[in-house]
Amino acid sequence: MYRKSACVGIILLGWVMAMSRCTHPEQTQLQALRQQVQKLQDTLAFIRAHYKPGLGELMTTIQYNHGKLWFAGIKHNWPLASFEIGEIRETAQTAQEIETDRPEVKDIPMLYPALDSVQAAVQAQDEARFKKAFSFLTTTCNNCHKANHFAFNIIAIPTAPPATNQQYGPSSSQ
Ligand code: HEC
Repeated sequence: MYRKSACVGIILLGWVMAMSRCTHPEQTQLQALRQQVQKLQDTLAFIRAHYKPGLGELMTTIQYNHGKLWFAGIKHNWPLASFEIGEIRETAQTAQEIETDRPEVKDIPMLYPALDSVQAAVQAQDEARFKKAFSFLTTTCNNCHKANHFAFNIIAIPTAPPATNQQYGPSSSQ
């Protein structure tokens, strides 16, 4: 009886020793993982604080493409016009995805039907229709600004290209 319980005791002691040897490296690993996660979280917070564009910056990008779109359309460079519409759409989607702390982005989708009608005019290569659709797009920009206390921020049909180092008309080979 005594021998048997001593035997069990030795087995138990061996098991405890084996377990403590096992858990020790596991805890160290866990600790290292926790530190790595913390480091990643810090890096993410830094990137968000310093590199994430603000809604105003994304809007400035949209404004730039809006200006280029006008000159591509009136000069009949339809592939460029189509490209600029795509750029505006992409930036608008980015705003919806990353500006989660800005309640105004719930109104971003009002842009999509307006962009669709410009796209339809571009596909039809119809300048008059393009001008009308572009006007509707511009009114939509302003409607959102008005709805979100930015009525002072008035978007207009551009009178000069936003960049002069780009050709807006089609190349002769197009
Ligand atoms: C969600 C609705 C919404 C739509 C649609 C929208 N805007 Fe804006 N826009 C805003 C808000 C909100 C701001 C203010 C951003 C800020 O606080 O920096 C803004 C700011 C701007 C600015 C000022 C940026 C600056 O820093 O000077 C420009 C330019 C602009 N928008 C252009 C446009 C154009 C062009 C369109 C249409 C193609 C458009 N916006 C459509 C909501 C919108």
